[in-house]
Amino acid sequence: MGAGLSEAAKRAGEAVDGERLWRDLMQLAQFGARTDGGVERHALSGADIAARAWLIGEAERRGFSVSVDDIANLWIRRKGADEGAEPVILGSHIDSQPAGGKFDGALGVLAGLEALTALDAAGIATRRPVDVVAWTNEEGGRFDRSCTGSSVWSGAMALEDYFGDIGADGVRLGEALKLTLDATPDLPRRPRRFPAHAYVELHIEQGPVLEAEGLDVAAVTGIQGVRWLNVEVTGSAGHAGTTPMAGRRDALQGAHRAIAALNALMADPDDRVRFTVGRFNAFPNSPNTIPERAAFSIDFRHPDKTLLDDRSARLRPLIEAAAAPCTASLTPTLFMDPVMFPEDVVAQIEVAARALGHPARRLASGAFHDALYAARVCPAGMIFVPCRAGLSHHPEEWTEPRHARAGARVLTATAVELAGT
Ligand code: GLV
Ligand code: MN
Ligand code: MN
Repeated sequence: MGAGLSEAAKRAGEAVDGERLWRDLMQLAQFGARTDGGVERHALSGADIAARAWLIGEAERRGFSVSVDDIANLWIRRKGADEGAEPVILGSHIDSQPAGGKFDGALGVLAGLEALTALDAAGIATRRPVDVVAWTNEEGGRFDRSCTGSSVWSGAMALEDYFGDIGADGVRLGEALKLTLDATPDLPRRPRRFPAHAYVELHIEQGPVLEAEGLDVAAVTGIQGVRWLNVEVTGSAGHAGTTPMAGRRDALQGAHRAIAALNALMADPDDRVRFTVGRFNAFPNSPNTIPERAAFSIDFRHPDKTLLDDRSARLRPLIEAAAAPCTASLTPTLFMDPVMFPEDVVAQIEVAARALGHPARRLASGAFHDALYAARVCPAGMIFVPCRAGLSHHPEEWTEPRHARAGARVLTATAVELAGT
């Protein structure tokens, strides 16, 4: 990876067809479309299966070969001159949040397909094959544990460990996975794990920086670490009108005290800690019954692993003490350490952006992405493009067509440099 952009990479980037990419984005957004303009396409659902069928059809129509692995990651390949060489992988996910948008994930997959198409249009043969992947269940919107597909591919998780996960709709992941795989019986099976040369993911920023600074793209430096836990507080139910206040074991009040203590623990004058309780349920959830059980989620993030580890170790004693006289149990559901992307991949993305005339900066990712797991297998990097008002995980999520095109151009040129000619 050198100081300038090769002529082939520049030509490939310039062959990206922004209108074709935009049509693909709008087409994919039809699967699971919500009436408010957003998308609800849960992993391994009927909408996901239909979206996959469309994507497979498009890829095959354009002459690329498609395969699938045991966790239903979908792989689209453009052959390399050396088919035995480890591939360069481009990709993201096509599942969405329950009230998600058209671009989170979809952009990275469809820009990957556009990159393969642009390589054909520019008549460029790469030495390494270039694969596009749509990872299974990045969002965790249906099955709680996110990045399911990439974590299995990376070897961080065993496929079988996910089978019993129960979705928000009560369906077991193993059953939904079988339905999805059964829908494409003719697709060749790819191994669960294989070596790769590099991985690059294009994504909307999901934050306000690029838009505020009027930039087209960011070369992402790394992804902060994340811990997810489910907390359950247990007390005693009783009649709201007759049970004396003294001696009550109200689970909702216990959970409320625990959350107040967590807010104090997570207070950060530098505003770098991210702490969210995004889900809260009380049982039996009746106005005149003392709650017997309360359950809430913790999403805790920071770029520094030591801080994440230290503070995570304090959660259990703190929650137990605050919830008393109720009892509390904690179940970790997601554990991702921070990752820094290799300098040469970050620099290569900057070189491509500059050569193609797209103003860029470096930026760290506050959101997690499948690139975090891919980085365990091979050098990985990410490209961000602006999204309106930094809004994401929302039906009004939006990126301008020119920014989608800019990201795809940089992705395509970077892929050529990594795959070699
Ligand atoms: C990914 O969707 C995240 O929550 O960071
Ligand atoms: Mn995403
Ligand atoms: Mn997301």
